[in-house]
Amino acid sequence: MSRPRLGFNVDHIATVRQARLALWPDPVGIAAIAEVAGAEQITLHLREDRRHVQERDYALLRETKKGLLNLEMAATPAMLELVLKQPPDMVTLVPERRQELTTEGGLDVVAHQEALAKAVQMLRERDIVVSLFVDPRPEQLEASLKIGAQRVELHTGCYCNETHSQRRLKEQQRIHEAARHALQLGLGCAAGHGLDYANVAPIAAMVEVDELNIGHSIVARALYVGIERAIKDMLQCMLRPSDKP
Ligand code: PXP
Repeated sequence: MSRPRLGFNVDHIATVRQARLALWPDPVGIAAIAEVAGAEQITLHLREDRRHVQERDYALLRETKKGLLNLEMAATPAMLELVLKQPPDMVTLVPERRQELTTEGGLDVVAHQEALAKAVQMLRERDIVVSLFVDPRPEQLEASLKIGAQRVELHTGCYCNETHSQRRLKEQQRIHEAARHALQLGLGCAAGHGLDYANVAPIAAMVEVDELNIGHSIVARALYVGIERAIKDMLQCMLRPSDKP
C-alpha cells in the first residue's frame, strides 16, 4: 500500500452539533462524504459523558459505513455490554477521564493488565479486532501482546506538541522504534492524536504504520475548504515519498 489507511475521526463533527443540541452537522452524513473522498475507516469515540458522539451515531454508522468502523472506548462494563451487542469491526481501548479536553495519554497496560486482559478476551471472543492506544514505550507494547491485543495505536501527542525541532525528531524516532518493535512482536500498528497537515508526513512514511486516526485537523480544515477537499488533502500528505509522482 502506498500510504497508511486513513481513519477519519468524526468526534468533532458531533461536537459542533452538541454545542446546540441540534440536528446538524450530522457525523453520519459527513462520514459518508469522507468515505467517498477516500477515507478507508471511520473512527469515533463514544465517551462515557456522551459529550460529542451519541449512541444513535454509532448505531447508524454501523449500518451506513462502507469501510471499517473503529470504535474508541474505555473498557467499562457499560461500554463492553454495548459493543458485545452491537460490535464494530475494531475496538480501540483508550483511557478516559471526565475532566480532560481530549485523550491525554496512552493506556497504562502494564498497570492495568488484569482488567484489560478480561476486556480484550471478551471482545476477541466476539470476533472484534482489538487495538490498545498506548504511549510509544516497549513495556506497553509487550504488555499489549501479553494480554491478547492484535494491534496497538501509538500516541503521537508528544511528537505533535513538541515545537523544538531536535526534540521533535527524538519523539519521531521514539515512535518509529515503537512501530518497529510492534511489528517484530506481531502487533499491527496504528498511530494518532494531534496529527495535522504539517506534521503527518514523517509518521505516514513509517512503513510499519498501517493506519492513522485523524480528527481535529481535518474537521478544522473542512470549515474552510469542505470535507471532501480536507480528506483528499490529508490523503495527499500521507503519501509515502517513494509513491509520490
Ligand atoms: N486516536 C485516538 C486514540 C484518539 O483518542 C483521538 C482523539 O479522539 C485521535 C486518534 C484523533 O486525534 P485528533 O483529533 O487530535 O486528530
